[in-house]
Amino acid sequence: MTLTRRQAFSNLLRFLLASPLLGAQQYLGAADPMMDLANVFDFARLARSKLDPVAWDYLDEGGKDEVSLRDNREAFNRLVLRPRILKDVHQIDLSTSLLSKKLHYPIFICPTGGKNCFYRNGEEEVARAAAASNALLVTSGGIEQFLASGKGPKNWWQYTLGGELRSKPTLLNFTEKLEDLGCAGICITVDSMLVSHRERSIHNKFVREWCDKEIPRDTQDHLIYRSGDLPWRTDVYPERPFPTPTWDDVRRLRDATQLPVILKGVLTAEDSERSVRAGMSAIIVSNHGGRQLDHVGATIEALPECVQAASGKIPVLVDGGFRRGTDILKALALGATAIGIGRPYLWGLSCFGQRGVSRILDLMRIELALDMGMAGVARISEIDRKLVRFRNCGEGTC
Ligand SMILES: Cc1cc2nc3c(=O)[nH]c(=O)nc-3n(C[C@H](O)[C@H](O)[C@H](O)COP(=O)(O)O)c2cc1C
Repeated sequence: MTLTRRQAFSNLLRFLLASPLLGAQQYLGAADPMMDLANVFDFARLARSKLDPVAWDYLDEGGKDEVSLRDNREAFNRLVLRPRILKDVHQIDLSTSLLSKKLHYPIFICPTGGKNCFYRNGEEEVARAAAASNALLVTSGGIEQFLASGKGPKNWWQYTLGGELRSKPTLLNFTEKLEDLGCAGICITVDSMLVSHRERSIHNKFVREWCDKEIPRDTQDHLIYRSGDLPWRTDVYPERPFPTPTWDDVRRLRDATQLPVILKGVLTAEDSERSVRAGMSAIIVSNHGGRQLDHVGATIEALPECVQAASGKIPVLVDGGFRRGTDILKALALGATAIGIGRPYLWGLSCFGQRGVSRILDLMRIELALDMGMAGVARISEIDRKLVRFRNCGEGTC
């Protein structure tokens, strides 16, 4: 049989596309729909289409007018990278260390409550992803069974709002249990002594406890309220039955355990300095993803003063609005040791469970490596303040 030139060419093309050696198949986009998502925003869009609308709003919203929420993203645009040329960047090393432990890359998983609103058994799915992706996890708790399997993450911190610090017995019980479980740090969130008005959830008459199980809806898609359900409201004067934690409490915690104590929610030089004096092991510059006090500015804006005040005595971490490798690079250049993500991994979780969380970490890691290479830095230790400048800012004026 003789072949026309056109048939021969088409046969060759089919052979090439089918050849695993050339990896041509992956360009057909057939195998795994997750791999067609190019960045974390693609995950956000998919998550929104999958989630119950009230769960989406709970995930996405900020406090009050959401000014801080928007600031967290917009402020990155006021920082400009200053790439260097002709450096050898053929291999990029993202590894660094934090509190005497190796970080494979400087991205950590922030604590988030309500994960079951996004995926069944969400906390454990995220812990599995942290283990598989070698990421530092700040857990909200409830992963003891998984940890007992021996397959848990190697590096994890326990998050608390400080309720356990109220009495000596509860404090000791808390720290001893964590030490036994192999916890690597205690992260106290200090910006949530009162919960802000999240007005999307208030309009939605959202019940936070729904996230302990799942959003209840009837066959007509109406939300079902049970007796005892307390929808989020604005007309409650803020009161707490117990005094909220103070500097004395965190000092007591520090004295009661060998574990590092990390404060999450620091936004000022004053509190950074005070954290050092109080013996804290690290701080996280955070505005709770713009979900608590509004009008506090972006965390990337607060970072420089906090880094300066900590003056190299303790590591300064930061979270809030990190979505791109360039965002991370800017924070590292301003002196952060690592950056935390909240919503991005929840988008991954909502779409694909554990796999999605790992893919989000991969995407951000790959972007960071690529951006470092293009900026002329091959190692984290080579990143310094000269890598960024503020737009419209004279030399030394900001
Ligand atoms: C749905 C959701 C729930 C959260 N719950 C908590 C929490 O219980 N404790 C806490 O310290 N921070 C909580 N955060 C804040 C995150 O730890 C983190 O500071 C923030 O999400 C980072 O900003 P990003 O979402 O823009 O990445 C939550 C954030 C989200 C989105």
